[in-house]
Amino acid sequence: MNAPVHPEAGAAPFSDSEFERLAAFANRSFGLKLSPAKKPLVYSRISKRLTALKIGSLNNYIDLVEKTNDLGERLELISALTTNVTAFFRENHHFETVRKDIVPSLASKPGNPKRVRFWSAGCSTGEEPYSIAMTLLEGLQNTGAFDLRILATDIDPKVVQRAKQGRYGKDNVGQLPAGYLGKYFEKPDAGESYTISPDIRKLITFGELNLIEPLPVKGPFDAIFCRNVAIYFDMETQQKVWTNFANLLLPGGYLFIGHSERLTGPASETLKITGVTTYRKNGQPSSGWSTK
Ligand SMILES: C[S@@+](CC[C@H](N)C(=O)[O-])C[C@H]1O[C@@H](n2cnc3c(N)ncnc32)[C@H](O)[C@@H]1O
Repeated sequence: MNAPVHPEAGAAPFSDSEFERLAAFANRSFGLKLSPAKKPLVYSRISKRLTALKIGSLNNYIDLVEKTNDLGERLELISALTTNVTAFFRENHHFETVRKDIVPSLASKPGNPKRVRFWSAGCSTGEEPYSIAMTLLEGLQNTGAFDLRILATDIDPKVVQRAKQGRYGKDNVGQLPAGYLGKYFEKPDAGESYTISPDIRKLITFGELNLIEPLPVKGPFDAIFCRNVAIYFDMETQQKVWTNFANLLLPGGYLFIGHSERLTGPASETLKITGVTTYRKNGQPSSGWSTK
């Protein structure tokens, strides 16, 4: 069947074959999985791009992103096909694991200072890496003893820019644990925006990075957060991403994934489930990691 989807006044509907062409392109280029069930959602998002660019059909739009190799428009397309929804301390049980299991182990790591590396892969507008940083600073007694760094990356340059700024509205800071707003944010400005404090900001390195391309990241990491990102990828791409993470984690290191994601494939040989959407890499930590 080649029926148009949700035709709306003023916007060109697109056919099944156009949708399939877009899905094939998104899969080839970004590892994204666009099932037919997503068609209405994709339609409503892409039609805004077509209107903005004054392009009359989805086929012409795909020609643009395919043939001109237009990086800017490819990024617009990724933004349209994925969501940047995030929140401070989202899926809080992962931060509880950091607080209860990881932080106490860090004190007995070797080295002076002790090297600690976390990665928020698919960090969106920054709430996730800032939540990691606040949890670590809150828990560590003597931060001077640690060489503490958090890498925060996303494919979408717009969200990376916002994450770097670290400015959040009243609605965004509502879920912070009691006392954190006063402790880890500067006083609100006239527009009632709260900016993350320099002490937290300086722990984080932000960058643009596509997780389905060869990774320019060495690690090794004590923990990787990659939550609500792989959900957009097809199974093969997901499994490659999990394998990359397994290779980048220290023995005993943690991988946290999103609530509707599941780790499968070769990486499950080395990453064992230890809690809700929480995995740990096999092997003996060099020192100081509890092995429970
Ligand atoms: C729903 S947000 C998740 C944010 C955060 N991890 C959380 O759970 O709250 C998904 C993020 O994944 C990013 N993303 C999608 N595909 C990606 C890719 N191939 N490489 C890196 N980031 C990607 C999107 O730009 C978006 O910011």
